[in-house]
Amino acid sequence: MGCGPPIDAAGCTALVTGANQGIGRGFVEVLLERGAERVYATARRAETLPELAALDPERVVTLQLDVTHDAQRRAAAAAAADTVLLINNAGIPGSPIQAERCMLAASSLEDARLVMETDCWAQVEMCRLFAPLIVANGGGAICNIISIGALFCLPEFSSYSMAKAALATATSGIRAELSRDPVLVAGVFTAGVKTRMSAKGLDPKTMPVDHAREVLDALAKGDEDIFAGDGAAALRDDIRASPKVLEQRLAERFFTAPLSIE
Ligand SMILES: NC(=O)c1ccc[n+]([C@@H]2O[C@H](COP(=O)([O-])OP(=O)(O)OC[C@H]3O[C@@H](n4cnc5c(N)ncnc54)[C@H](OP(=O)(O)O)[C@@H]3O)[C@@H](O)[C@H]2O)c1
Repeated sequence: MGCGPPIDAAGCTALVTGANQGIGRGFVEVLLERGAERVYATARRAETLPELAALDPERVVTLQLDVTHDAQRRAAAAAAADTVLLINNAGIPGSPIQAERCMLAASSLEDARLVMETDCWAQVEMCRLFAPLIVANGGGAICNIISIGALFCLPEFSSYSMAKAALATATSGIRAELSRDPVLVAGVFTAGVKTRMSAKGLDPKTMPVDHAREVLDALAKGDEDIFAGDGAAALRDDIRASPKVLEQRLAERFFTAPLSIE
C-alpha cells in the first residue's frame, strides 16, 4: 500500500552507500538492470571501486565514501548533486565479540558508540545533505535500510538494535519534515538476506538482488514502511501480535543458543 510519491528506478539517478558488497551491491546491480540513468556507487575502501565501475562504465560513477567521515559525505553530496534516490545502506553489526555488543557485558560503550555513529547518525547526516538536493531536483526518495531488528531487541546485538530503532524513529521524523515535498521517505525493515553480516546458523534465503527488487518494487508503489527479505513480514506479524512473547523467547535464546557472527 503506497503512501508517498512513488519513484521508478528507470531513468533515475541514485546513490548507494556501502555498495561494494552484500545488499548495497545488490541495489547497484538491480538499479542498472531496471534502467537507472546513473548510479553513484560508493564504498569506504577505494580498492573496491574499480569492480563496481566495471559493472557499467557508462552509468556507474564510483565515489569513496566512509559514511562516518564528514568531509567525505560533503564531497559526495557535491559530486552527486543530481541524485534523486538516496539508498542509505552502509551499516555494521558491531564487534565480532558478542560481549562487546551487549549493554552490561561490554568492557566499555566504545563499540556501541561506533555502531550508533555508523548505523544511525551517519545515515541521518546523509539525509541532511541529500534531502535539499533531492527537493531541488524536483523530488525523489530517501530509502533508509534499517532492519527488522529495530522493532525488538536482539540481545546478542543490543547496540545494533538500539541504533536501528533510533534510525527508524529518525526516519519518521525526516518523513514528517519532508511531508510537504515530493519526496518519499522509506524505511526498510530488512531480514534474512544472505550477506557477510548474516548471523551464523540462520541460513537466510534471500539474495541481495532479490531484496533490491522487492524494495524497488515497493518504492515504485510509494511504500513508506517496507518489510523485505526472508521472514521479514512474518516477524513483523509476530512482533505485532505478541511483543512480550518474542522478547522472552529472545532472552531465553541469549543464554541457550546465542546468535553469532564470529
Ligand atoms: N543481511 C541482512 O539480513 C540484513 C538484515 C537487516 C538489515 N541489514 C542492513 O543492511 C545493510 C547492509 O548490510 P549487509 O547485510 O549487506 O552487510 P555487509 O555485507 O556486511 O555489507 C555492509 C556494507 O556496509 C559498508 N560499511 C560499513 N561501514 C561503513 C562506513 N563507515 N562507510 C561506508 N560503508 C560502510 C561495508 O563496507 P566494507 O566492505 O568496507 O566493510 C559493506 O559494503 C546494513 O545497514 C545492515 O544493517 C541487513
